[in-house]
Amino acid sequence: MSTLTKIALGMMGQLRPTHAKGDAAPFIPLPAPDKTGGMPLMEALSLRRSAREFGHRELPLPVLSGLLWAAFGINRPDGGRTAPSALNAQEIDVYVALPSGAYLYDPPAHALRLVAASDLRRVTGYQDFVNEAPLDLVFVADHARMRMVPAGQRQSYASVAAGAISQNVYLFAASAGLATVIRAWIDRSAIANALGLTHDQEVLLSQTVGYPKT
Ligand SMILES: Cc1cc2nc3c(=O)[nH]c(=O)nc-3n(C[C@H](O)[C@H](O)[C@H](O)COP(=O)(O)O)c2cc1C
Repeated sequence: MSTLTKIALGMMGQLRPTHAKGDAAPFIPLPAPDKTGGMPLMEALSLRRSAREFGHRELPLPVLSGLLWAAFGINRPDGGRTAPSALNAQEIDVYVALPSGAYLYDPPAHALRLVAASDLRRVTGYQDFVNEAPLDLVFVADHARMRMVPAGQRQSYASVAAGAISQNVYLFAASAGLATVIRAWIDRSAIANALGLTHDQEVLLSQTVGYPKT
């Protein structure tokens, strides 16, 4: 589906997911992430960049595991995470749009929980590469977890937290030879409808990840 078609459908409130490709397992346990691997930080920073051309090859589970742990996994016994959040509200949820379904990343379980048995990738942004890349992440702020943060600050603080998560994804991608791009040009209400979000939840950004197009 082209960008123009998506814009037109979005204006009519008709930008919708398509059929899932394959079986959508309700729960996908992820293998333990390899926390000792990866390239030196300065090399990963040297390679960090946005890419907008992706191969179709799916990410193997160990790669998805490392990616999601790097993004916003638990890295300390007290439940601390790989990205900061104001007052440690941990208000960002990472949704994962795969060809087989849309999932919520559950950091304590280090697993994916099914939220929609359909292929949401094309709904996650206007740009056409999002339809075919193997993975689109969606960063969603849960305002119900931000009651300690002054109301006027919640959106900007949540956006900062999502930005930190996005950079973790960029650095993991650089280290693992993946391509990625963070995206704000998205139809937030189409995504919220497709994911079945509540009024407390706000779609902030989306990020495509895949192997570079060869
Ligand atoms: C908040 C934000 C929103 C962005 N939105 C989009 C977007 O919707 N689509 C896109 O292709 N790139 C988007 N980008 C990526 C920028 O275009 C990209 O980071 C910039 O061109 C610099 O390129 P680099 O990331 O390779 O250094 C966004 C970046 C940020 C920080």
